[in-house]
Amino acid sequence: MALATERRTKGQVKVFSRTVEPGPVGVIQRITALARRRPVEIAGVLARRVLRRGDPFRLLPFPQAVHIEITNHCNLKCLMCPHGTMEREKGFMDESLFRSIIDELAEHKLLLENVALMGLGEPLLHKDFERFAKIAADSGIPNLYASTNATLLSEERSRRIIEDGSLNRLIISLDGASKETFEKIRVGANFDLIKENVMRFLDLKRKLGKKRPQATLQILSMPETENEVDEFCRIWLPHLCPEDEILIKEVDTFGGLVDDRRPNTEVEPEKRYACRQLWKDFSISWDGRATVCCKDVFYKLSVGRVGDSSLSALWTSKKWESIRRIHEQGQWGRLKPCNDCREWYV
Ligand SMILES: C[S@@+](CC[C@H](N)C(=O)[O-])C[C@H]1O[C@@H](n2cnc3c(N)ncnc32)[C@H](O)[C@@H]1O
Ligand code: SF4
Repeated sequence: MALATERRTKGQVKVFSRTVEPGPVGVIQRITALARRRPVEIAGVLARRVLRRGDPFRLLPFPQAVHIEITNHCNLKCLMCPHGTMEREKGFMDESLFRSIIDELAEHKLLLENVALMGLGEPLLHKDFERFAKIAADSGIPNLYASTNATLLSEERSRRIIEDGSLNRLIISLDGASKETFEKIRVGANFDLIKENVMRFLDLKRKLGKKRPQATLQILSMPETENEVDEFCRIWLPHLCPEDEILIKEVDTFGGLVDDRRPNTEVEPEKRYACRQLWKDFSISWDGRATVCCKDVFYKLSVGRVGDSSLSALWTSKKWESIRRIHEQGQWGRLKPCNDCREWYV
């Protein structure tokens, strides 16, 4: 099957991603994806538009995207991931903190576009992952998603995730189509076991007739995987339900924290602008620290702690505002990790 090619622009860096199913089938996939959105989510898109009044840098009363790192523990040591060099303390978010975050998010759910139950770590290591997802979904949090390395995607957990239907989307990180490549990149994972877990998850989803979560099988595009993309699609396409997808995502540097492994680096930004992330996103660590960007996985730009302040107060805090001003003045070079970041966007 042919692959559709889609070029998206992030700042002036071309991000290359390909989604399966070109032409009318692709259009149907997009409409199906939109149809899966609830009316309240579509209302949110409109509300943000109205409040921004055409200015993408107008600060809304609440962030649009929130990352909740329910744990920063991980059971793998992937080649391209900064997790291995993380020095901050590791742990699991407790339920009272999680509930307090969700309670505040629920008050502003109209303005939220999506909420990720993950940060730098493997979310399924949290024993309460499914319960937390349900708490969030029951509170009406829109577009809930997570990404997993699938090491712990047992039959029991797959069944629960599918039957609960709390997540809109589950990204499954599978970097490689061969055992050799996969195990070279996803260090510590067993290719055959992961393949079995993912096949079972997809087959179970089909058998149970559930559309949620949408499964996104993701392969990062880097020198090691470049020649395996077609094989990757060949293996996985027959197992997907119509709403599922394959995503070939460009590897990045996590705000300059890891080496640039992009196979194609000839397109570099010529001019840089203030990064819109600072007007959109909000990331929270397992122990409640808040930061301004999901790429700030070491929390160098932390603006405070959830619990000491509300999310709304942190969002409009002097510290966060001063970071926005620094960007507006073109002085991102004064900030780590913004100085080395290649993932900024407008
Ligand atoms: C940090 S992981 C955490 C979730 C989970 N452990 C996993 O592997 O999916 C979140 C996402 O970041 C991706 N990732 C890791 N290193 C990356 C890099 N250098 N560039 C782009 N994405 C990366 C992973 O493939 C995964 O989809
Ligand atoms: S990509 Fe995911 S699984 Fe791999 S080391 Fe990073 S956090 Fe762990």
